[in-house]
Amino acid sequence: MKIIITKDYEELSAKAAEIMLEVVRKNPRAVLGLATGTTPLGLYANMIADHKENGTDYSGIRTANLDEYKGLPKTHDQSYAYFMRKNLFDGLGIAPESTNIENGMAEDAAAECARYDALLEALPRDIQLLGLGSNGHIAFNEPGTPFGSGTHVVTLAESTVKDNARLFKDISEVPRQAFTMGIRQIMQAKKVLILASGANKAEAVCKMVKGDVTESVPASVLQLHPDCVLIADEAAAKLLGE
Ligand code: GLP
Repeated sequence: MKIIITKDYEELSAKAAEIMLEVVRKNPRAVLGLATGTTPLGLYANMIADHKENGTDYSGIRTANLDEYKGLPKTHDQSYAYFMRKNLFDGLGIAPESTNIENGMAEDAAAECARYDALLEALPRDIQLLGLGSNGHIAFNEPGTPFGSGTHVVTLAESTVKDNARLFKDISEVPRQAFTMGIRQIMQAKKVLILASGANKAEAVCKMVKGDVTESVPASVLQLHPDCVLIADEAAAKLLGE
């Protein structure tokens, strides 16, 4: 794993944008695996600024997102479909038909997982962006998820519900289940870019980079990826030197 430590979140976001833009400029038909959460927001803002200033073309770009809350329609302001449209796709002019995400409202969950598995198979990702859960999760693959997993429905860990409650009016509104891309499919991306910011990620960063490769720390699997870049700000990287 290549590790880049930045002094703060702003520099992290700028570095992440450099890596993402390199992929887009090299291949205007690239498939981008994208993530939600607060961590990628600075990167997304930089991509939009670059698109407006330099005209980087996204007309041939396709995307596949990691995960979606089960039970939220794409019009719900906390759904990940809504988040992506508002924070990235509208700003880059990416048409809805070029984007992919699990359908949180699918009646047949097993069929929805099979649909997404087939889609990911047909659409190999050039890069997969990831955030990091404070408990070491990637996408919504919580501790204990088998490394061989494909798209599946998860019951969120209590710590994840608490972490994500800040974005909802009340913790009781946070969905308890979600669809998520599996770890096997994250590992299939040609390149993985994982971002971590802030002291509450320091322990997870340390376990991911220096700990054993174990299913109890899902992100530790990235030690086995042939082209994985971690960008962490100083606060998130503070335990790495010890
Ligand atoms: C959620 C998402 C993850 C994300 C994580 C960290 O649980 N499913 O994909 O990486 O939160 O979020 P944040 O970047 O807001 O810390």
